[in-house]
Amino acid sequence: MTTTRTQVGIVGAGPAGLLLSHLLHLRGIESIVLEARSRDYVEHRIRAGVLEHVVEQLLIETGVGARMQADGLPHEGVILRFGSRDHRIDFRTLTGKHVLVYSQHLLVRDLIAARLAANGTILFEADAVSLHGIDTSQPRIRYRQADAEHDLACDVIAGCDGFHGISRPAVEPHLRVFERDYPFGWLGILADAAPSSQELVYANHDRGFALLSMRSPTVSRLYLQCAPDEDVDAWSDDRIWAELQTRFSREGGFTLTEGRITQKGVTPMRSFVTEPMQYGRLFLAGDSAHIVPPTGAKGLNLAAGDVAVLARALEAFYRRGETALLDAYSATCLARAWKVQRFSWWMTSMLHRFATHSDFERRVQLAELDYVTSSVAASTSLAENYVGLPLPA
Ligand code: FAD
Ligand code: DHB
Repeated sequence: MTTTRTQVGIVGAGPAGLLLSHLLHLRGIESIVLEARSRDYVEHRIRAGVLEHVVEQLLIETGVGARMQADGLPHEGVILRFGSRDHRIDFRTLTGKHVLVYSQHLLVRDLIAARLAANGTILFEADAVSLHGIDTSQPRIRYRQADAEHDLACDVIAGCDGFHGISRPAVEPHLRVFERDYPFGWLGILADAAPSSQELVYANHDRGFALLSMRSPTVSRLYLQCAPDEDVDAWSDDRIWAELQTRFSREGGFTLTEGRITQKGVTPMRSFVTEPMQYGRLFLAGDSAHIVPPTGAKGLNLAAGDVAVLARALEAFYRRGETALLDAYSATCLARAWKVQRFSWWMTSMLHRFATHSDFERRVQLAELDYVTSSVAASTSLAENYVGLPLPA
């Protein structure tokens, strides 16, 4: 068994782990990232696509925004479609900000490229199997790579290994979990089809929610509300397009451009928060600490917010030996994470069809959509959450 030493041992090369490693490097703090999957796998994993204004700014300010600025698509509003009519929420007018449509896997590629160009260490196909000494000042991560076990000794462990990682379970007895499952999932596709709308369309239809998004001027990303355990194989391409055509129908007509479907998958919907986000020298960040339902596009953005807070706290720890910011890490992140949970839960509740809803509750849902899109106060509230709440000062 070999032992390597670094300052911060990071489990997971998703957006949280990679961005943390980058932010630490800029502050002169060493880290090693352990990633169970191959580089090729993480660079092609299709997930989120909308960056908040504050996250876009953070990436630009820290020197990893060049390709995002060149290829990202700025969006100054979104469309809510209900009762077969469009209602636009104008981010620019209401908040002075926009969001950026840019694929998570491209951001992951940009961050990997930046770390490697700066001689950073990311160990791919290195599966963290257990954490040791978390309640000491010398924690260790045991990992398996190429059939051999190794130890990574560090001062601090960042658990950035997503919802199914090993970090959160390692301290489970010390955590309290808050969660909610939703009685539906999303069937998502990528298609070689020009986006049928310049802006994202969130559609509340009697047959269920649908979302029109995009990845580029030639690639559409579309989602349909489905059963949480929906069998993707039961959905032929023709059936998917027919259902999307129905749910996006609009008074006066709407042309949904179809194309070759290149990827299909079902995402379950869950709200999940663990408190606290830290135990001893283990700090949880991103999906390892919290999950939001995707309506509102917050998962990746929340992960970026956590690591911005953690990087600053670690800087105070290493530069000045101060632990106050590290001690406050969990409370600081949770205050923001709960507001983002609220927004994601609210968007999900307002936009989906619930089989348990009575006719009364359905009417209340439509009245809420009507209110949100006709009141400046209510649409400003949606807009300021969508473009992203400020990162903690
Ligand atoms: P992750 O991206 O999950 O990264 C964790 C990393 O840790 C992974 O690379 C994993 O391989 C690695 N890892 C796990 N265990 C170990 C281990 N034991 N050892 C070493 N490495 C390990 N959000 C949206 O806003 N919009 C969307 O449309 C959307 N779609 C999604 C679709 C899917 C299928 C999923 C799962 C999530 C989606 N999300 C979406 C959420 C968003 O992608 C996540 O919030 C975001 O990836 C969180 O980043 P992270 O770095 O915390 O976790
Ligand atoms: C996308 C995903 C979302 O959850 C969302 O609210 C908007 C866009 C997307 O994948 O493009």
